[in-house]
Formats: sequence, structure tokens, C-alpha cells
Amino acid sequence: MTPPAIRARKGGAPLVCLTAYTTPMARLVDREADVILVGDSLGMVVHGLPSTLGVTLEMMILHGLAARRGTTRACLVVDLPFGSYEAGPDQAFRSAARVMAETGCAAVKLEGGESMAPTIDFLTRRGVPVMAHVGLMPQSVNVTGGYRTQGRGSVAAARVEADARAVSDAGAFSVVLEKITEPLARRITEALPIPTIGIGASAACDGQILVIDDMLGLFTDFQPSFVRRYAELGRAVEAAVAAYAADVRARSFPGREHVFNDD
Ligand code: KIV
Repeated sequence: MTPPAIRARKGGAPLVCLTAYTTPMARLVDREADVILVGDSLGMVVHGLPSTLGVTLEMMILHGLAARRGTTRACLVVDLPFGSYEAGPDQAFRSAARVMAETGCAAVKLEGGESMAPTIDFLTRRGVPVMAHVGLMPQSVNVTGGYRTQGRGSVAAARVEADARAVSDAGAFSVVLEKITEPLARRITEALPIPTIGIGASAACDGQILVIDDMLGLFTDFQPSFVRRYAELGRAVEAAVAAYAADVRARSFPGREHVFNDD
């Protein structure tokens, strides 16, 4: 799947998108997903950071490369982290070019609406496909004041709509809509010529994305209300570790079948 193929899915079968940050997980996700996103959410769910703000370009490149090794058919997109693109189009191009050259990903994602449109235009004209991200933008929580639903009320809704329109006009091949109301997501999806990918933005979008650790029950510090848990892997790991610990303490592991003899 290439960025143009993702764009061409507008109005077609819903796009299946998930995050992955390692080779084995990307390999598993690649069987079903149209898009694999190496999201800066990895700062929280893999590295234990309190927000995505501490994520560096080096972290994104390391995990992007790992995910690339497990991806054969999905469109691999890597997030540009906070501080690596906001200064202007030149900085954004340098960061995006490093990410693309060093990971082999197909596209980058960046957060921001109208204010980022000139940067998206600059990147797309220079060979960098861009997935945009509007609505709730976790890299801006210190300005917006938290993780609240965006676009409630006519003024706020108009702002999100204008952001989505601006990134589409600037050449983004798709746009993530995070945590906005269903009527707003429906209006934006109907109005834009590019696919909308929802996270907490209702089934009205052209596709859906979730953070893999959330939907597998691996990240349990908190659970956003828009997440559906498809597995409880955190509990399965706890049970497996407890069973191993009990076996070691009882000397019932290793068993005869795990032991090497002289002959
Ligand atoms: O960082 C991330 O994983 C994301 C998705 C939640 C869209 O931006």
C-alpha cells in the first residue's frame, strides 16, 4: 500500500490502521492493516514517558526501522515528534528526509491544521507524502489544556473543519481526526477529497486507527473511552510470569525435556 493507494481509497472500504513499534508486532499487524503507524505514542506505551513531548527523532527512527523490517504490504507511516518540524518548512524537510531515508517508511505524519499547511505544501512538493493530524493534538496539550474532546460548539467545530480543509488543500494524502464529535467527523469526511482516519471520531470516518498497546490490553495506565479492548494481553503476561515464578521456586522448571545430558 502506497500513499496514493491510501488516498484512492476515499469513499471505498474502510481503511484499517494500527500502530506498531517493533519488528514482530509490525509483522503481525501487516497481515491485516492498510496503514502501520509508528506513532509518537510509543513514548508513553513503550518508554513510560508521561506524554509524547519527550519523544526524539532518534527514537522515531529506531522504532521506524524496526517496524519497517516487519512490514511488507501495509503503508508504513512514521510520526515526526514534537520539536522536529514546527520551526518551519526547512526544519520539517530535514527531519522528514532523515526519517524516510533512515527507516524506509512511505510517509510521515505531523500534527497541526492551518498553521502547518505551508509546511505540508512544502514537503509534498519535495517528495514527502504527509498524513496530517487534527482535532485533539497530543503534542499541543500544554497549549490546549488537556485531552478533552475537540470541536464541541460552533466556533470550535469551525476551527477543526478549517484545519482539516487546510491540510487537505495543502496536499496531505490523508488526515487523522482525533477525539472529535461524530457530527463534525461526518461533515469533514463528506467535505474532504482525502480519507479521514478516526481515533475517537466515530465510524463516520473513512478508516480507523488505534494504538496497538491499548487495543491489546498491554498499556493499562489508563484507557481512553474510545478504545475497544480486543485482547487482555497484559493479564495474560501477568499470569504467564506468575506461573514461571512458581515453577522456578518449586524447581519444576526446567523439566527433563529442557536438560542436556552427556550422551
Ligand atoms: O501517536 C500515535 O499513535 C498517533 C495515533 C493515536 C493516531 O498519533
